[in-house]
Amino acid sequence: MKNNLVIIGFMATGKTSVAQALASKLGKEYVSTDDLIVKKANKYIPKIFEDDGEIKFRELEIEIVKTVSEMDDIVVDCGGGVVLNWINVVRLKEKGIIVLLTASVERILERSSSSTERPLLNVQNTREKIVALLKFREPFYEKAADVIIDTNNLSIDNIVAQILDFLK
Ligand code: S3P
Repeated sequence: MKNNLVIIGFMATGKTSVAQALASKLGKEYVSTDDLIVKKANKYIPKIFEDDGEIKFRELEIEIVKTVSEMDDIVVDCGGGVVLNWINVVRLKEKGIIVLLTASVERILERSSSSTERPLLNVQNTREKIVALLKFREPFYEKAADVIIDTNNLSIDNIVAQILDFLK
């Protein structure tokens, strides 16, 4: 019986807000892979990328996902790159239904512009970077997803309602 919900998707597609709202609605625990990585490394994500590199970050992510995948009755808010290592998806699927949130490049640009917390988007041409990352990642996201929600014209409440509808 799958009793976890796993929220995946590109950066700035609303995963955190949706996962938190879903967790409170369903009475499940909210768990963020990024928060657990920060706790384990004892430094913020940009600093992990700067000091140790993306590969080290991905190693930490694999360790955290392994731990999280063994938990029950949780809503998991995954970092946007979690699908890049397929072992993460295999583990998360053992007890979880995977919900993919998608958004247009415009929406992602809008939503990510105020934050410097995402080292992969701290570049000169953010739009170009988003387009390139999305192109590479889309097949991974789609292969992992049990359900796909296009968030472009939806409020957080609408997204949550669609997910709950799917779960019925
Ligand atoms: C990443 C997404 C981030 C964070 C890290 C890498 C990515 O999480 O895990 O900066 O590779 O897409 P959010 O998707 O929550 O921003």
